[in-house]
Amino acid sequence: MRKQLKFLNAITTLHFASSFKLLSTIVNKKTTVLITDEHVYELHQSKFKGYHCIVLKSGEAFKTQATVDSVISQLILLQADRTYTLVGIGGGVVTDITGYVASIYMRGVAFGFVPTTLLAMVDASIGGKNGVDVGHYKNMIGTTNQPHFILYDTTFLKTLPQAEWYNGFAEIIKHAAIKDAAMFKQLQQYDIAYYQKHSADLQLLVQRNALLKGKVVVNDPFEQGDRKLLNFGHTLGHALENQYQLSHGEAISIGMCFAVYASQRYANFKQAAAVVALLSQYQLPTQLSFDPKSTFDILKMDKKRASSDIRYILLQRIGKGYIQPIALKDIAGLLSVYQQLN
Ligand SMILES: NC(=O)c1ccc[n+]([C@@H]2O[C@H](COP(=O)([O-])OP(=O)(O)OC[C@H]3O[C@@H](n4cnc5c(N)ncnc54)[C@H](O)[C@@H]3O)[C@@H](O)[C@H]2O)c1
Ligand SMILES: [Zn+2]
Repeated sequence: MRKQLKFLNAITTLHFASSFKLLSTIVNKKTTVLITDEHVYELHQSKFKGYHCIVLKSGEAFKTQATVDSVISQLILLQADRTYTLVGIGGGVVTDITGYVASIYMRGVAFGFVPTTLLAMVDASIGGKNGVDVGHYKNMIGTTNQPHFILYDTTFLKTLPQAEWYNGFAEIIKHAAIKDAAMFKQLQQYDIAYYQKHSADLQLLVQRNALLKGKVVVNDPFEQGDRKLLNFGHTLGHALENQYQLSHGEAISIGMCFAVYASQRYANFKQAAAVVALLSQYQLPTQLSFDPKSTFDILKMDKKRASSDIRYILLQRIGKGYIQPIALKDIAGLLSVYQQLN
């Protein structure tokens, strides 16, 4: 099924429930360069026959300007000109790098994505943010630029390591919690093993989540309102992720548990137990013993604006996220009370 997202000055065509084979009808093989990583290449290279391929080392550690420079050198060697299309085939690391390279190579060439992790399908490939890390600073440089197309072939997920499924479901549960109560109910009826076995349901779930994020971005291009809701669980999550070597999914799961606790306090939210139970049903951690003081210090530093409060994302009810300004000093207090309850 084909859908379009209409951004301010770009249109992205989403090919849902599709097959990688369709790519050859979207692009011209001769003037297309596939950018992928070593894991995806090793497992799926038979699909890439007849295309130019650039294979990156996998992992966040290689989401750097050095990798970008190396991709650019390889494009020059291939004599890629402005008529070329770059296609990022991989997880969020590959799609972030590909979008960035395509935005700067020869001042911009066409690009598209074939996301191959659940997280990239429902989150990273959508919204036009791309770029790389600088040292410890995540996504420090980059551009905002929409892909021409995103092709969804969920058969890539057959080789996805189990831990990567948890990361994807953490973002899916986030979407359900802030915007989609019906999806929350559906998720309550199943589990990861169910979606792994039922590909039609998995495709529909991917589509629902990709469109949910896509519409949020289309309707809030300058990140003034609803797009902030996508940070649900991420404020505390980011502060915990590096500190305790958690995966992104694990970190935001703990972040969401704290956010529903705070929602009880600020919004009389009554469904905290249901959110915690759903996270646990999808194999995500719901308790972590963390140091509230060091965590608060990191959280405070991460804050992008110098003001005395944080615009925290809380829930009024399942499916209805909202922005609650909370004074920094109150967050410090909440964190230590929450930690004692754990
Ligand atoms: N641009 C955005 O809006 C946005 C949003 C969310 C996340 N991100 C970025 O996305 C990145 C995280 O994405 P990710 O979780 O997909 O990580 P990733 O790209 O590192 O992929 C995770 C692992 O899965 C492997 N892999 C990918 N597809 C596979 C497959 N089909 N079979 C087997 N192995 C496979 C990869 O090689 C890697 O080892 C972060 O850098 C984050 O900043 C960007
Ligand atoms: Zn996230």
